Amino acid sequence: MLLVLLNYWPNTWNSKKPDKRIRHARLKAMTILVVMILAPAADADGIDLHWLWDDRCNECHGHAGQFSRQFLSVTNGQLQGRHHVRDLRRFMQNHYLIDSEVDAVYNMLLAQANTPARFKLECSSCHDNAARFVRQSLELRDGLLYSRQSNQPARLFLNHHRALEPDEVEFYIKLLTRVAHEVYRP
Ligand code: HEC
Ligand code: HEC
Repeated sequence: MLLVLLNYWPNTWNSKKPDKRIRHARLKAMTILVVMILAPAADADGIDLHWLWDDRCNECHGHAGQFSRQFLSVTNGQLQGRHHVRDLRRFMQNHYLIDSEVDAVYNMLLAQANTPARFKLECSSCHDNAARFVRQSLELRDGLLYSRQSNQPARLFLNHHRALEPDEVEFYIKLLTRVAHEVYRP
C-alpha cells in the first residue's frame, strides 16, 4: 500500500503552478490517503453482505436470491449446490471468499433458497430489490424493523399497505428483517 502511495505522490509537490498532470497525481494521492484512513472504520462495521455479493459474485452468478433459488436446494437444513452436493461450505471456503465471511454468505444463501421470490414479484416494481429498499428506507432497533422516515415500526405500516393479509405481513416482516441483518452487520 505504501509503495502504491509513494508511486502516486508527485515529487514536484512544492512547485507553485502545478500543471494538469501533477494536479491529477496529487488528487490521486489524496484519494488513496482518504481511502486508507476510512478503511478500518468500514471494517469494524461488518460488510454489507448484499454489497459483497454484488461486488464479488454477481458478475458470474447474477442476483443472489435468484441464484440460490435456481441452483441451490436445502436438505435437512443443509445447503446443496447442483455441482457441489456435499459440503458446499467447504467449497465456498476456496471460492472468492475470505474465511470470516463464509458462514455469513452461506446463511444468506440458505435463507434465500428457502424463500419464494415474492418480494421480487409483488414489491420490487415500486421498491427495487429488497437490499436497496432496506438500505434506503428501513433500519433496525433492538432487532426490530423501523421506518427511517416515519420512525414507526415497519409492521404498523405494512398492516395497511397493499391489502396484505396478516400472514403476508408476517412473511414480509421476517424477510425484510433478515435482509436488514445482512445489510447492517455488527
Ligand atoms: C469468475 C466467476 C465466478 C465468481 C466471481 C464467483 N463464482 Fe461461484 N462459481 C463459479 C463457477 C464456474 C461455479 C461452478 C463450477 C464449480 O462447481 O466449481 C461456481 C459455483 C458456485 C457455487 C456452487 C454452485 C453449485 O451448483 O454447486 C456457489 C455456492 C458459489 N459459486 C458461490 C459464489 C460466491 C458466494 C461468490 C462470491 C464471493 C462466487 N461464487 C464468485 C464462478 C464464479
Ligand atoms: C405500486 C407501488 C408499490 C408496491 C407494489 C409496493 N409498495 Fe410499499 N410503498 C409504496 C409507496 C409509494 C410507499 C411510501 C408511501 C407512504 O409513505 O405512504 C411505500 C412504503 C412502504 C414501506 C414503508 C417504507 C418507509 O419508508 O416507511 C414498506 C415497509 C413497504 N412499502 C413495503 C412493501 C412491501 C413488502 C411490498 C410488497 C408486498 C410493497 N411495499 C409493495 C409503493 C408500493
